[in-house]
Amino acid sequence: MTFPRTMKAIAAERTPTGPRLYLKEILVPHPGPGQILIKLASAGVNRADLLQVEGHHPPPPGAPETPGLEASGTVVAVDQTVGGIRVGDEVCSLLTGGGYAEYAVASALCTLPVPKGMSLTDAGGLPEVYFTVWSNVFDTARLRHGETFLVHGGSSGIGTAAIQLMHARGHRVFTTAGSEDKCAACVKLGATRAINYREEDFVTLVKEGTNGHGVDVILDMVGGDYVMRNLQTLARGGRLVNIAYQKGAKVEVDFRLVQAKLLTLAATGLRGRPDSEKALIRDSLAREVWPLFEAGRLKPVTDRVLPLAAAGAAHQAMRESRHIGKILLVP
Ligand SMILES: NC(=O)c1ccc[n+]([C@@H]2O[C@H](COP(=O)([O-])OP(=O)(O)OC[C@H]3O[C@@H](n4cnc5c(N)ncnc54)[C@H](OP(=O)(O)O)[C@@H]3O)[C@@H](O)[C@H]2O)c1
Repeated sequence: MTFPRTMKAIAAERTPTGPRLYLKEILVPHPGPGQILIKLASAGVNRADLLQVEGHHPPPPGAPETPGLEASGTVVAVDQTVGGIRVGDEVCSLLTGGGYAEYAVASALCTLPVPKGMSLTDAGGLPEVYFTVWSNVFDTARLRHGETFLVHGGSSGIGTAAIQLMHARGHRVFTTAGSEDKCAACVKLGATRAINYREEDFVTLVKEGTNGHGVDVILDMVGGDYVMRNLQTLARGGRLVNIAYQKGAKVEVDFRLVQAKLLTLAATGLRGRPDSEKALIRDSLAREVWPLFEAGRLKPVTDRVLPLAAAGAAHQAMRESRHIGKILLVP
């Protein structure tokens, strides 16, 4: 398959009123060892992209400056070192950057086929959330059969994936969200109880909902005062894993509570990890999660699809938290 020399991609500049995103003509990247080139159908927008264009989350060494941590599309070139992926395949990939463009290179180790029956566009919003949710909940926090689970921010991209996946695997799921509409959407996705964090206290309600036992695993993206409140909410032997700190990363922890309840605390990041580690997560998704999509037990939750040129508006919608699920950009 042939591809052009240049393409349109989103670039960002910082202005006194905030970042400005605009279309720029740049060279189409060439796949290096272990890589493929994809003609993109869609790219998922993630909160990390907002942080990157604000200058808080720089790309790791070697990653493209163009934002975009995940995308779907059709393979147009494959490096000779890659096996198992062919030109013309429809795929979705976890990227270290470069998704806000017409073409992107991806590591073959971070690439999955589009689940059968799913639109190519919707698939662009799967990799970042499902790699993150699987690796944190199962590899790090080791959620076991029959255990209970709490995810904060249930209407986020991460939250909508976590609720559906844990529900499909038979776990009772508690979640928090910031409005009645968002709570209702979380219940529809499979949450046993969605707590409006602006009006209700999750520590009390989760305790009530578990006969005083607490939950076994919490996936948290809030941090700040939620850290101690999470520790209060966990059952004996519970595990807390943090993936973001929207209310602050520096907190005071009373380790007497951690010790008394035999709790485990963890925090992880995905983007900077080597492809060899991401490949293990990819293999788990292919084995455990993609079949659930193909059986109709998991669905992509696409809030809206916008043209690539509207990346600024997409970021504004996410900044104002007007979405439920994923915002996608199409070139
Ligand atoms: N470490 C990693 O590897 C990794 C990977 C992926 C994502 N993340 C992080 O995970 C988070 C979710 O990512 P996303 O792209 O899915 O973003 P998103 O859709 O914008 O989600 C942010 C969520 O945070 C919720 N939130 C804010 N304050 C809250 C509070 N006090 N209590 C409960 N929920 C609250 C928001 O809920 P309301 O809208 O209801 O207020 C919203 O649902 C982001 O912070 C992102 O940076 C980390």
